Amino acid sequence: MLSIHTIKALEKNLKSLPKETCLGLVPTMGALHEGHASLFKKAVEENDHVVVSIFVNPTQFNNNSDLEKYPKTLDADIKLIHSISPNILIFTPTTSEIYSSAVESNNYDFNGLDKVMEGEFRDNHFNGVGTIVEALFTIIKPRKAYFGEKDFQQLCIIQKLTEIQKLGVKIIGCPIVRESNGLAMSSRNERLSPEVRQQAGFIYQSMLTAKHKFGTESVLKTKEWITTEFKNNPNFELEYFEITDIDTLTPIKERIKETKYRAFIAVFADDVRLIDNIALN
Ligand code: PAJ
Repeated sequence: MLSIHTIKALEKNLKSLPKETCLGLVPTMGALHEGHASLFKKAVEENDHVVVSIFVNPTQFNNNSDLEKYPKTLDADIKLIHSISPNILIFTPTTSEIYSSAVESNNYDFNGLDKVMEGEFRDNHFNGVGTIVEALFTIIKPRKAYFGEKDFQQLCIIQKLTEIQKLGVKIIGCPIVRESNGLAMSSRNERLSPEVRQQAGFIYQSMLTAKHKFGTESVLKTKEWITTEFKNNPNFELEYFEITDIDTLTPIKERIKETKYRAFIAVFADDVRLIDNIALN
């Protein structure tokens, strides 16, 4: 069995597991790479049984062309998953299986976490993410679910979703996996030319310097420095750079002692939008 397409078949398969099985879930949209693989490995280590879902969720895309352009590499994905463990169950539902009545997202109150950064530039995106993740948790009922810090804002929102919807799933955050030049691994990197992909190490290098500056200089100075760096580099266009506290994700103007901060960035390289983030203290 390579993958399961229907909820019915999945439920039947999960029912055959021993009662006390610790079940882990890794939700994905496919086009898998080593970043995803790190989540699968951690899930296999920490659970008796693991489900990986592959579903390109339409309600989290802002425009149809982005949704249509999303790479589909199912055969390679299955190979990668089974190279980590042949026992991982792969769930690849169709859109009608997940959205039986209408392809619409629920409306959640994420207490402002969805209003900044990715939420500001991608309208309704996090309601779409919340809708699919709640649906997967309800169908699969995992004890733990794994998400990457690559999408740190998404990770915070899923933690919030689990709390407000009382989903009873332990959310595990996993560190960002990077290419050798520091570029955060992403399915979108495949759309970059080899030259730009190599140059894109600049994004992470700038973040590292910003982290260093944040240790000694003001928030404003750090932000101004990044803005100038990107203005002087014709290969990349800065969409946003924010420094926020890690609990509320509210962008700050001044730092307060004993608070943990993170920097977030979104950049265009040609027409490819790349995001990254880094812990500052
Ligand atoms: P997708 O982009 O496929 O990512 C699936 C998971 O892999 C996410 O939790 C993401 O943060 C993690 N991931 C991606 N690149 C990573 C990297 N370089 N290092 C570590 N983790 C990485 O995120 C989604 O799909 C969707 O929004 C989803 C949660 C599946 C809902 O549709």
